[in-house]
Amino acid sequence: MVWVPGVDEVPMSLSSISVDGVSSITVADVGEATKMLHQKKVGEVVGVRGPYGNGFALTGGNVMIVGGGTGLTPLVPLAENLVKLSSKIVFMVGAKTRDDIFFLDRIGTVVPEVVVTTEDGSYGLKGIVTELAEQILEKQKFDMIYACGPEQMMFKMFLLAKRLNTPFQASLERYIRCGIGICGSCCMGEYRICRDGPVFSGEQLGKVRNEFGLFKREVDGSKVNF
Ligand SMILES: Cc1cc2nc3c(=O)[nH]c(=O)nc-3n(C[C@H](O)[C@H](O)[C@H](O)COP(=O)(O)OP(=O)(O)OC[C@H]3O[C@@H](n4cnc5c(N)ncnc54)[C@H](O)[C@@H]3O)c2cc1C
Ligand code: FES
Repeated sequence: MVWVPGVDEVPMSLSSISVDGVSSITVADVGEATKMLHQKKVGEVVGVRGPYGNGFALTGGNVMIVGGGTGLTPLVPLAENLVKLSSKIVFMVGAKTRDDIFFLDRIGTVVPEVVVTTEDGSYGLKGIVTELAEQILEKQKFDMIYACGPEQMMFKMFLLAKRLNTPFQASLERYIRCGIGICGSCCMGEYRICRDGPVFSGEQLGKVRNEFGLFKREVDGSKVNF
């Protein structure tokens, strides 16, 4: 949880994780708190509490990673850790346009097989990342699919993984306030995203099919459809 004094406290993934204590976050400028973070100068103060919740469980074998938007943030350190375990990693990056893609050079240094799709065709292959992922998954057997990005994308990957009987993990976003399982603002069915997640397995997501991919709750608790 990153606190911007006088503004807000917002949840962020770690985009690099280092044992010597130097880690990083990567922030999209989308609203009040994130705009203020973008305007911070070296030496100005922000608060950090955590880390909270879980992370991706690492597996060996053949893995596919599918990310879009700021969802790429936790997937890059994931790939960097999987390299030591996995025999094959296919990293699929989906974006609307070239301007929405970042970390490609970092991904490219650890993963030889990177597939980029843009909806407008301005970079990589033109199309929707889930459709291309489906084509690859139909031809090759994978031992795990990891996903993070827009919920509709993760939902499509969840359905695909289920149909192909492939294990699945996704990192979800909900409105996070306390971050420690007390306030209930991040509830999804029986889960609290901050405490039980944000990473959930395909089996867990199957138990919340009446919420996952359909709606989330705003700060006042009202439902917003995806
Ligand atoms: C587990 C998790 C990891 C995240 N990791 C990253 C990351 O690595 N990089 C990144 O740029 N963004 C990340 N986000 C999203 C980020 O938290 C929101 O973009 C940020 O909170 C927006 O705050 P704001 O004040 O700038 O925008 P606002 O104007 O307040 O809102 C803009 C959007 O952000 C959502 N939002 C606002 N406050 C929260 C909150 N407390 N919890 C969840 N969503 C909120 C709103 O629903 C709205 O859709 C993550 C979110 C979660 C839940
Ligand atoms: S944010 Fe309070 S319970 Fe999850």
